[in-house]
Amino acid sequence: MIDAFARGLPKAEIHLHVEGTLEPEMMVALAERNGVSLPFDTVDEARAAYQFDNLQDFLDIFYQGAEVLQTEGDFAELMTAYLERASADGVRHTEMFFDPQTHTGRGVQFPTFMAGFATARADAEERLGMSTELIMCFLRHLDASDAMATLEAALPYREALIGVGLDSSEIGNPPEKFEEVFARARAEGWRITAHAGEEAGPDFITGALDTLGAERIDHGVRSEDDPALVARLAADGVPLTMCPLSNVKLRVFDKLADHNLKRLLEAGVRVTINSDDPAYFGGYIGDNYVATAEALDLSEEHLIQMARNSIEASFVSDERRAELIDELNRFVADS
Ligand code: HPA
Ligand code: ZN
Repeated sequence: MIDAFARGLPKAEIHLHVEGTLEPEMMVALAERNGVSLPFDTVDEARAAYQFDNLQDFLDIFYQGAEVLQTEGDFAELMTAYLERASADGVRHTEMFFDPQTHTGRGVQFPTFMAGFATARADAEERLGMSTELIMCFLRHLDASDAMATLEAALPYREALIGVGLDSSEIGNPPEKFEEVFARARAEGWRITAHAGEEAGPDFITGALDTLGAERIDHGVRSEDDPALVARLAADGVPLTMCPLSNVKLRVFDKLADHNLKRLLEAGVRVTINSDDPAYFGGYIGDNYVATAEALDLSEEHLIQMARNSIEASFVSDERRAELIDELNRFVADS
């Protein structure tokens, strides 16, 4: 029962890496089509390799998998498959991360992936009635100068991007490393988000807010180590884009029942549920809602609150936000 309710709730997904939606079936098919060699020969071998001890362990496989993406059509096919799955989980609006440097670093350039994304977005808006946005993330394990060059390469696509984010290996790569890049992104009119406090401590969250101007925090689970920070997040309504199944897969928590999502929600933090890299972490957004509801004994009211938070935390226009809130209110009234 909670299953159908959780999946049916009109919601926004605001923490989703499009490269992380590459299912093993598509990975193996694209590898063959594009003549790319992979460390696994079959879909079963790929799935079996998806056992991670930490974030870096995952990233090593994730970047390797992305190498099969070569043509405009590959990027369109990847994004369309995600948008269809998201739509089936009640997602009415999505803000998708992508990592340009993962592609430009191997010679696949902006015109290729941006054209593929544009095709998939137009199709989803038309066929599924979803609204979609793109957020370009900088790889924090690379130099700030590389991020700045990427920002400049993205300027011709300014209107296709709603914002910028920061992802990849967190430990050793604090937000302060990218202060100038994010100042430039803000000056260019982009909205700001950043992964922080997934593995590293609460000081990375404070740094993302104060140094980068982040409007949302991606993950933010480690905020709980600093009660004053939790109070600040709640008072300022800073959204946390949490990804519970991801956190268990990457061993941030041993099991879902240990997750701090419910405590933070009840402390008044604007918590949302998202899927991060669903092809690698064992579930899309609906699975994240259902598994978390079961493990933490969440009520329908908790789920409604998080769906509402996701719409409020999104970077959509005020008109579209009002439509999404209406849809949510109608769903709740009818159920
Ligand atoms: N954390 C950091 N970088 C990432 C992630 C994540 O969960 N997924 C894809 N890149
Ligand atoms: Zn992420």
